[in-house]
Amino acid sequence: MNYRNALVWTVIGAMALTVGALGAPRYVDGIDAAFPPFSFIDDNGVPAGFDVDVVRWIADEMGFEVEIVPVDWDAIIPTLLVGNIDFIASGMTITQARKERVSFTEPYWQVDLAVVVRQETQSDGEQQAEFNVFTAVQPGRRIGVQRGTTSQDWLEDEVLAAGIGINIVLYDNFLLALEDLLIGRIDAAVMDEPTALSSIADRPLTVVGTIATGEIYGYAVRQGDTELLNTLNEGLSRIQSDPMWDQLVAKWLVGR
Ligand code: ARG
Repeated sequence: MNYRNALVWTVIGAMALTVGALGAPRYVDGIDAAFPPFSFIDDNGVPAGFDVDVVRWIADEMGFEVEIVPVDWDAIIPTLLVGNIDFIASGMTITQARKERVSFTEPYWQVDLAVVVRQETQSDGEQQAEFNVFTAVQPGRRIGVQRGTTSQDWLEDEVLAAGIGINIVLYDNFLLALEDLLIGRIDAAVMDEPTALSSIADRPLTVVGTIATGEIYGYAVRQGDTELLNTLNEGLSRIQSDPMWDQLVAKWLVGR
């Protein structure tokens, strides 16, 4: 190939790349890296989880490119609002307060909250929970939650507001709360039930009760970003009528 041909092919290649880039929109999805089984960073340092798999499938199906980046949960809505990410797919509950700041897709999953406590080994070798749900949520108890979650809302709005003087201990993520629970710095932790179940395996921790908040998850976009909202809604509806949905539910959420 002579110099001129090489140049022509280079130009054609560059044009093809440009068209490709123009053809496929690119969105940045912000996740909390410590919210299994919905979103987390796996042992290889790669984003993983139910929401991550669903979003990758939707991106493929709907023809957009997606970059998935970890963001501190506490800062995730401000990060969306300033435009550093384009949407949030990370087990976020649709709440009235959040709806005033962001737009949500259709609901895609429902959860309750779980109360997690330590398990003690009895003299006969049996494992027993240190507290039940009533004795865990009593005045003076130190209860850990992730900052800026519906678990924090529940402790403030339903427990403290009812005059039960617990001490709420706030963490950047739920896994840190479980670490502190293990070493006795807190008496209990409250979190979304699937996260509790997937995080206590192989540890002397147990779920002693659930709080039937029946909260529903959606993906969040900036208000007014209707194109992306419609794309995500269409993608959710397509994956839910595809066998892939049940496969991902079985892989991450049910029967693990
Ligand atoms: N569903 C709860 C909420 O929206 C907890 C979410 C925590 N999600 C996360 N990625 N850390 O407040």
